[in-house]
Amino acid sequence: MKKKLSLLMIIVMLTSLLVACGGNHANVENDNSKPESYTLEGIKKKGKLIMGTSADYPPFEFHKMINGEDEIVGFDIEIGKYIANELGVELEIKDMDFDKLLGGLSAGMLDIVIAAMNPDPERAKEANFSDIYYESTHSVLIRKDDKSNIVSMEDLNGKSIGVQIGTTQEKIAETEIKDANVISLNTNPDIVMNLKTNKIDCAIMETTVAKAFAKSNDDLMLVEGLVIDSGSEGIAVAIKKGNDELTEKINEILAKAKAEGLMEQWVIEANELNDLE
Ligand code: ARG
Repeated sequence: MKKKLSLLMIIVMLTSLLVACGGNHANVENDNSKPESYTLEGIKKKGKLIMGTSADYPPFEFHKMINGEDEIVGFDIEIGKYIANELGVELEIKDMDFDKLLGGLSAGMLDIVIAAMNPDPERAKEANFSDIYYESTHSVLIRKDDKSNIVSMEDLNGKSIGVQIGTTQEKIAETEIKDANVISLNTNPDIVMNLKTNKIDCAIMETTVAKAFAKSNDDLMLVEGLVIDSGSEGIAVAIKKGNDELTEKINEILAKAKAEGLMEQWVIEANELNDLE
């Protein structure tokens, strides 16, 4: 009888122990659902990485018809795909106005922004930035038939200059050029159209981008030798402010892509894709 009783007690104890463990387990699961969706853990949990970009900036990000389908392609897109792949999740791309990207990040609507973005000090107050993944400068795009002989920054004084809203170029045009008539537009193809139709005198954009537009528009060219310092060495991935774990992980992934020589390869491929009609 005694033996039977103690056996019963052991069973009761074991069962309550199991129940307790189960309870704990449920708690742990609750804790797991807590991480915000934009953190490293949250991204893995939802199984996708939401990347914001402004797909008007060849060869970094642009629209291209591929087999009759409108696709967003480019160097930054390859970076996004690589990061998602390394994290073991899908990549979802949200194409937005450039000046809305950091807001989307703060609101938790985007996990990362890859949009040829310079990590300037002002933006760094609003977002985390990865290491620079591409060194870039800015250039001036003009019409080939331009008669004003632009060779230096001073020659831009008093000119009407096309720039994209919310960009480093807008800031350069507003602060570094005297009496500039700054025309801020939503997209770079808009700027190019305004330049081609004589509505503006010139445009400022990343050198790589100015070259891409000059290549696909016979009537446009770069002002050779005029290189504008953007104030930061290059461009970086933006991550929600304070999301340090993801930032570190992205730095590791970018370093890996660099070490594998993928960055150069992606730039070449994106340029080729942009050149193809
Ligand atoms: N590098 C410039 C900036 O950070 C311009 C980037 C524009 N990017 C784009 N995808 N349209 O402000």
